[in-house]
Amino acid sequence: MLIALFPGDGIGPEVIAEARRVLDALDLPGLTYEEGLVGGAAYKAKGHPLPPETLDIAERCNAILFGAVGDFDCDNLERHLRPEQAILGLRKALGLFANLRPATLFKELADASALRPEVATQIDMVIVRELNGDVYFGEKGMRTTADGKREGYDVMSYNEDEVRRIARVGFETARARKGRLCSVDKANVLETSQLWRDVMIETHKDYPDIELSHMYVDNAAMQLVRNPGQFDVIVTGNLFGDILSDQASMCAGSIGMLPSASLDTNQKGLYEPIHGSAPDIAGQGKANPLATILSAAMMLRYSLNMPEPADRIEAAVAKALEGGARTPDLGGSMTTQQMGDAVLAVL
Ligand code: NAD
Ligand code: IPM
Ligand code: MN
Repeated sequence: MLIALFPGDGIGPEVIAEARRVLDALDLPGLTYEEGLVGGAAYKAKGHPLPPETLDIAERCNAILFGAVGDFDCDNLERHLRPEQAILGLRKALGLFANLRPATLFKELADASALRPEVATQIDMVIVRELNGDVYFGEKGMRTTADGKREGYDVMSYNEDEVRRIARVGFETARARKGRLCSVDKANVLETSQLWRDVMIETHKDYPDIELSHMYVDNAAMQLVRNPGQFDVIVTGNLFGDILSDQASMCAGSIGMLPSASLDTNQKGLYEPIHGSAPDIAGQGKANPLATILSAAMMLRYSLNMPEPADRIEAAVAKALEGGARTPDLGGSMTTQQMGDAVLAVL
């Protein structure tokens, strides 16, 4: 089994290093690793955020463990050369359309949540975010209007097949959990969302055992903070899922805690923390590596069919937190490496 390691920019390499140490400590038979350049690091070395060599590794491997991309030095490049195109390009090229972002509060972190502990401890949800469509991948550009004003535009659209396949992932995810699926849209304003809602209702006919509800995204943002415990599985589009998952992370303690899996129709997946390259803390040993370590656990479970070591990693993270391990985002003073050490000590 070949695992591609794409550390990327900012804190990416720091958090990937800790995940790699955890994987090495498990001493799993048959795993090999190949590193590739992505993001600003790839642009600076090769002139492109997703060079052909990297894409080649991505196509050959069984799973990708991804750090983060994003480098403010690159923010004035033409859009197709910006670091973020590496992750968007991989998602599209590999058909990784289903993004699972579990948000669960480790009970030891109730005091780290932005919410009151009695509200925060109720959080146990998965956000299923569509990843290959929406306003992210529609026609976009800059133009000049008739009266000479600059105008930027990005077309939002979904076709019914795209909605149906993510709907199925949503229903299946709910079926493996508590059986409740909340579809989040903006059907009161957007045609894209009206189609989304129609297809959710149609697809529900194949999943009569699942309770389907619908919520407008503005209300969902409010409900996430008011009563996050009401959600089991949320299914939503690319843009709304991006925003709501960062919000859910803070309810669950820290953005440094949330892992994610981006899956195709088979077993192949890209695994990454939901956070970015965090330029404000890069190179200072302040990054929390747990989201990446937990992403490695998701990788073992979903792409490599190794549920037992995945459980071991998750249990070790819980145990390390129980023992008081805290990086600054969790109100402590441990370095990235010390947090890695704390997990390794339990393993
Ligand atoms: P960010 O997630 O990088 O950082 C937001 C805030 O959270 C920062 O204060 C940061 O220090 C903190 N933070 C993030 N991860 C942390 C961790 N593991 N431990 C402790 N604190 C952490 O978002 P941003 O600042 O909006 O974006 C920075 C860059 O990252 C941008 O270039 C953006 O495009 C990119 N980005 C990339 C990805 C990705 O690669 N998947 C995701 C989001 C943002
Ligand atoms: C994420 C990130 C990406 C997204 C960016 C870096 C393109 O914010 O993975 O959540 O918007 O999908
Ligand atoms: Mn995001």
